[in-house]
Formats: sequence, C-alpha cells, structure tokens
Amino acid sequence: MLIDDVAGAVLREPPIFPPSAAFSAQAAISGMDAYRTLCAEAERDYEGFWGRLGRDALTWKKPFSTVLDESRAPFYQWFKDGELNASYNCLDRHVEAGQGTRVAVIFEADDGTVTNVTYQDLLQRVCRFANALKKRGVQKGDRVVIYMPMSVEGIVAMQACARIGATHSVVFGGFSSKSLNERLVNVGAIALVTCDEQMRGGKALPLKNIADEALAMGGCEAVKSVIVYRRTGGKVAWHDGRDVWMHELMQAESDQCAPAWVGAEHPLFILYTSGSTGTPKGVQHCTGGFLLWAAQTLKWTFDWKPSDVFWCTADIGWITGHSYIAYGPLALGATQVMFEGVPTWPNAGRFWQMIERHKVSLFYTAPTAIRSLIKLAEADIKVHPDSFDLSSLRILGTVGEPINPAAWMWYYEHVGRARCPVVDTWWQTETGGHMIAPMPGATPLVPGSCTLPLPGIMAAVVDETGQDVPDGQGGLLVIKRPWPSMLRTVWGDPERFRKGYFPDDLGGKLYLAGDGAVRDSETGYFTITGRIDDVLNVSGHRLGTMEIESALVANPLVAEAAVVGCPDETTGEIVVAFVVLKGPRPEGTEAERIANELRAWVGKEIGPIAKPKVIRFGENLPKTRSGKIMRRLLRSLAAGDEITQDVSTLENPAILDQLG
Ligand code: WT7
Repeated sequence: MLIDDVAGAVLREPPIFPPSAAFSAQAAISGMDAYRTLCAEAERDYEGFWGRLGRDALTWKKPFSTVLDESRAPFYQWFKDGELNASYNCLDRHVEAGQGTRVAVIFEADDGTVTNVTYQDLLQRVCRFANALKKRGVQKGDRVVIYMPMSVEGIVAMQACARIGATHSVVFGGFSSKSLNERLVNVGAIALVTCDEQMRGGKALPLKNIADEALAMGGCEAVKSVIVYRRTGGKVAWHDGRDVWMHELMQAESDQCAPAWVGAEHPLFILYTSGSTGTPKGVQHCTGGFLLWAAQTLKWTFDWKPSDVFWCTADIGWITGHSYIAYGPLALGATQVMFEGVPTWPNAGRFWQMIERHKVSLFYTAPTAIRSLIKLAEADIKVHPDSFDLSSLRILGTVGEPINPAAWMWYYEHVGRARCPVVDTWWQTETGGHMIAPMPGATPLVPGSCTLPLPGIMAAVVDETGQDVPDGQGGLLVIKRPWPSMLRTVWGDPERFRKGYFPDDLGGKLYLAGDGAVRDSETGYFTITGRIDDVLNVSGHRLGTMEIESALVANPLVAEAAVVGCPDETTGEIVVAFVVLKGPRPEGTEAERIANELRAWVGKEIGPIAKPKVIRFGENLPKTRSGKIMRRLLRSLAAGDEITQDVSTLENPAILDQLG
C-alpha cells in the first residue's frame, strides 16, 4: 500500500498498530469479530439494525413504527412517525435519571478561568432561554441564527432552539458581515443570537458590530430580535426594541419549559457549507437520525464511557461542534471540556496543559492544529507534549482533512505515548457524524488511513458511471445506502440537493461525497485522496473556489480571477488566486500593495479564513480556445510543478510564464 500524503512525503509499507489486548478487552467493540458481527447485522437486516440503535440510543415520546421510508428517494425519511425532543434527550433524561449534579461542561475561558456546568444547571439555563425565545415570538419551525463564540451560552442557544422546535443556523464567528448577511437572508431568520465581543488569544473581536453591519445590509428585515450575550462588557451600539441582553431576558424567565415534541424528521438545524458554486448551501439536518448518530458514533469511535472526559476542540460554528459538542456528548450524558481560546495562547502548550489540568481521556482535534503544534513544540521543550502529564488520555482523534503519516506518528508517540489509539475520522457536514473511522478496540491502525466504514455505513469507491472500481484503484467515494444522520436537503434548493449528492450520472441512488478515495486490496482500508470538486480544505475549513472568485471579481479593480488550492505542510492547502486586473498588470511593490488590498477585500467579503495566501497577476488566464479556464494547469503552476499536461489546446501559452 502506498500512502501519498498532502505534505508530499511518501511512506511505503506503513507500520500497523493493532490495539493492545488490554485496550480491546475493555472496549465496547472489543475486536474485529465484534465489529464484523455488527456489520453483518446491518447487511442482513438494515432496518432492523438501525431500528435497534434508534430505540436504544434515544428516548422517544412516541416510538417509531417505520424505520426507513424510501418512497421519496433521495429524500429519505428515518423514524418518521416517531416523536422526540433533542433537548429532552440531551438534558432532562439525565436529570430524571439522577445525574443532575454530573458536570456536563468544563468550560475553560481564553484567560484560563474554569467554570463547571452541571446537567441540572444547563437544563435550567436552556429552559430560561427557551422561554425567552418564545416570549420574543420564536415558534416551532422558525429559524434562529446563532453568531456566537465558543461559550456555554452558545450551547444554551442551540439547545433552547431545539427545545421549542425552532431550527438553528450557527454561523462561525470568523465569518464576515457579508457572509452573515447572506446566511440570515437565505435561511429567513427571525432572530439572531450574538455576543458583544469574542475573546481569543487575549484579543477582543467585536461580534455585535459585525452583526449590526450584517443586519444593515438589508434583506433580513424579518429579524425582529437581536439577543446579545455579554461576554466582555465592551461598548456596543444598541437598537432599542430590537436588541436585548441575553442575561436580562433569562433572569425574567422561569427555569422550567416543557419540551416541544417534534417528528423525527423535524429540521434541527441548517448549517451552511461551501460547494462548487459561488453560493454556500444550507445543509439541513433532522432531529432523530442526527441525534442518534451523533451519540452512537461517540460510543463506537471514541469508545465513550461515563468515566471519560471528552474534549473536541472544534468550534460550534462547524459541524464537528454540532455533532461532538452541542449534541452528541450531551445526548450520552458525558462530561466534556469546552475551550474558548486558541491552541497557541498564551503559549503553544495550551492543549497539553488543558489535557493535564482537566484529565481529558478522549481528545479530538484537527490535523492542522497538530502540524502547527509540532513545529512549535520541536522549537521549545516547554510547550512540548513530553513536558506534560498526559496519562489521562485513552484515545486520540483527528478530523477535517487527511492526516499525513508523519503528523500521525508524532501525535501517536508524543501525545498518546504509544498507548492511545488514534482514530482518523472521515466524515462531512452532510453526513452528520463519522462514516469511515477505526474502532479503537478493534481496528489495526495504519497512519494516513481512516480505515473502515462504521457498521451500517455502506461506503464504496466507484467510477464516473457509478460502477465499483477494483480495490487499489482510485475513484469516487460514495455511500450506497441512506443512513439516519444524512442531510435531508439543501435548504430552499431541493434540486441542488438531488443533483449534487445523488447525481444521475451515477444512477441517482449513490450518495456522492465529493472526495476521491482508494480502497486497499488486502485490508479493505480507505485512504481519502482529497476533493474531486472545486472545494478547498484550508486548516480543515471548507472553502469553495467559486466563492472566493466571486468575491475577487466583485472588487472594482479586478477583471477576472481563478482560485485554486496548493498543498501546504501545515494547513493542508493554501488559497492561491490568479488575478487579471482591469488596468495594467502590476509589478513589484505595486503588485504587493494591490495583493494586500485584495486579501483584505476577501476577508471582508467572506472572512479571514478565505484570504488568498498567494496572489499572482497576469494579463490573462490560461484558457482553452473555447474560453474555459484550465484549472489543472493553474494547480500545477501554483504548486510550482513542471507542466506535464497537454497544453496544445491552450489559446495563449505565453501566459504561463507570467503566472508561473
Ligand atoms: C471534507 C468535509 C468532518 C467534519 C469537519 C469537516 C475532508 C474530513 C477527513 C479525514 C481526509 C477528510 C474531506 C471531506 N475530510 N475528514 N479524516 N480524512 N479528509 O467537514 O467542512 O464538511 O468538510 O473534509 O474532503 O469531504 P466539512
């Protein structure tokens, strides 16, 4: 097997790490036989398998009698006649079971202050806020946008929406006012929950100001309430009548609020993600199937037990923060750490220090974070994981992008001290939870491979016509059968959902992930080879090249722009933009000045994460005679590779020298 990692290093015959006998013995899935038994159960009786999990993992107000309804495929419905409430499942049922004093969230603020929140306390806060939302006119089915930092209040806002049957849409705090405005408009929000300022790395960022700007851009006049969590007490502008303090609303409300029972298919949330067009898509998730998988995957992939302290470092603005902070751990009644700040502040030992301090046993982070911390740790022993007591750790996880074998090995050896399985979890915003990942007590690990599909997940590699390709050959990663936590639609655009995820070319029945993959012929292990569409992955964040291009061409100086990704050792990929100005092609310091101006522009249009690291100016872009931009060529140029592609169809070959 050959693993070609994003950083360009190639490992032949990679090492294999089977779980220790002791680890397997205590694990929920205690070996490959146990794993295969579950897979076989799903193969034999698909609905029986999922029905069993659905009944065991969740508490239903009204039990379901139908497991899967395929009559409106690909608009699949799961557990559709069942009724439940996500917030009840995450809070009340644990309190009712006598677990009210159990710590739900250990919150560590940017400055290191720690607050423990019990299940009882969280339930009361959620009830107060749910009542407040109702008082502000928010009803079942209404959409509430949450533009919040990492905070217990962020979870409270999400859970309170779930409690009353409102659908939330969390917008990551790093998005610009323009991106926030687009999402408010598209989702048709009637309320916005935000914060005065966000604290990260000792710096305050004015979220409320950005929210005000977003609302002033118009199109979202339906937003009648802006509810503001006071984090720093910093100065904010105030619109009387519209703006209200979260704490004032909550003080005035009762700490009891009966949950609204909703059908399993009721939309729990909409989360925007980038695709291959210029406009982000609102991925719509349901209540029952989503919650089931968020909880179940923690039991399997992280072998979660009540004694564990779980810590997922993702932001609640991304799917990982939905599935593995705001819902999954709470549905299990787990104790989890939540962190407001950044891994490098006050120094790059922050993660290791927090693991030691809170005795974290299950740690889940992104390859980018690991890669950047490796560099800093190697330069300074004080922030090296070797300098901390990490003996509480049991399992390490990664998510968001491929992890190169070298980073995997460092994580395994220095953070896990060669005794913790590393679970490389492949999944997506659209899948709601893990899809391909090792079972830590069963699967022998191979650095760089996310290994095998979870029980019940029918992953395969096919060609452009939907036919299986032989193992060892690359192809398109697909999921052959629906699963409970799959996205239900693209909000407001069911055709985009159908065409994009169940394309007719593949026969209309396979879920197309948008990633390339290879399955190993001996082990059956999957290795993800990266996106097959115009989507970039920068530090685990998904960015559409078209979105960045639209932002660039909206600048008055720009005539044309093409954006591609270029492999990067730390961030996986960087954004490279090829730009043609309306005026002459700039050179030297003038080129640098305009490039900086365009970067700032993209930051304003989308958010800082989308800023092109490299901008190259040309008098034109490489095009075919029919006028199509040759992106493959641009990718080679960006990577500094020799051009090996056929350039005979290129209209203007001289341009390559300018852009190279
Ligand atoms: C894309 C999904 C999954 C939550 C965070 C990102 C890439 C994700 C892995 C992995 C290789 C991975 C894929 C996927 N990706 N996990 N373990 N190995 N690639 O969610 O923003 O929806 O992005 O991230 O390309 O399609 P997302």
